[in-house]
Amino acid sequence: MFQPFKRPKLTVVGSGATGAATAHIAALKGLGDIVLLDVAEGIPQGKALDIWESGPIEGFDSRVVGTNDYADTAGSDIVVITAGMPRKPGMSRDDLLKVNAGIVHDVAAAAAQQSPDAIIVVLTNPADVMTFVAQRASGFPHHRVLGQAGVLDSARFRTFLADALGVSPKDVSAFVMGNHGDAMVPLVRYSFAGGIPVEKLLPKAQIDEIVQRTRVGGGEIVNLMKMSAYYAPGSSLVAMLASILHDEHRLLPTIAYLNGEYGERDIYLGVPAILGGRGVERVLEVDFTDEERAMFQKSVDSVRGPLALVK
Ligand code: 2OP
Repeated sequence: MFQPFKRPKLTVVGSGATGAATAHIAALKGLGDIVLLDVAEGIPQGKALDIWESGPIEGFDSRVVGTNDYADTAGSDIVVITAGMPRKPGMSRDDLLKVNAGIVHDVAAAAAQQSPDAIIVVLTNPADVMTFVAQRASGFPHHRVLGQAGVLDSARFRTFLADALGVSPKDVSAFVMGNHGDAMVPLVRYSFAGGIPVEKLLPKAQIDEIVQRTRVGGGEIVNLMKMSAYYAPGSSLVAMLASILHDEHRLLPTIAYLNGEYGERDIYLGVPAILGGRGVERVLEVDFTDEERAMFQKSVDSVRGPLALVK
């Protein structure tokens, strides 16, 4: 008897702007059936219904349902955690640590109970530390718990470089590693436009300005609209989800567990990683100049501090 393939099941916890954007983009790309969960009565149900009803127009088959009950998330292949307090103007991501650590712990534990084989992807800030909290609360192996930050930061870096060069962002490859915060490490030496190093195309002063704008890219948006970004974060999450669900083995900057890589242990941090059906298939190590190593170490230190408060 033919057993039809089971359509992937994605749970997005948190039906705020980013959670809803993630569910919407995932539905548009037909990643699978989507459960949008939140504690707020009616909000996930209404947003999910609204997205689902766009299916006939957009041509997707995903079922999108909203719920307040974790039982409805049972058997999910992927659980995305966006739940938590977002930043307001004047706040750093670390200011969210205490309140969001409690939320992410409870969410990860509840979701893991319903979906013991799932892969967890964390966006809630401060994302590096929240990914550590989610792994500990879920008890899942480290490769099945990862975080989103570098895809977003790299997209900002690529956007600004492409704009300065007057070329399509599609032809700019660049990546940011380290923490998701002002000490992040945009690696100019590993950034190219059409295969040409950007250092050969732009003056250093202009590149430095772009690096700085990338570092504070999240804050720039918070200051403009008095709330966090959500479109590009949603797109960034969906790129990672697709690589996992379709076993694409994309090489993406990912908040991954370090067990000796880059000389670091027992920390989650943004590094180049291959994402496939197992979650993090492999972390790749790149060489650093002395200057890059110093920036990376500063980035590590900026996570070790808040991490010690939740360990
Ligand atoms: C950002 O950088 C929300 O942390 C996210 O916009």
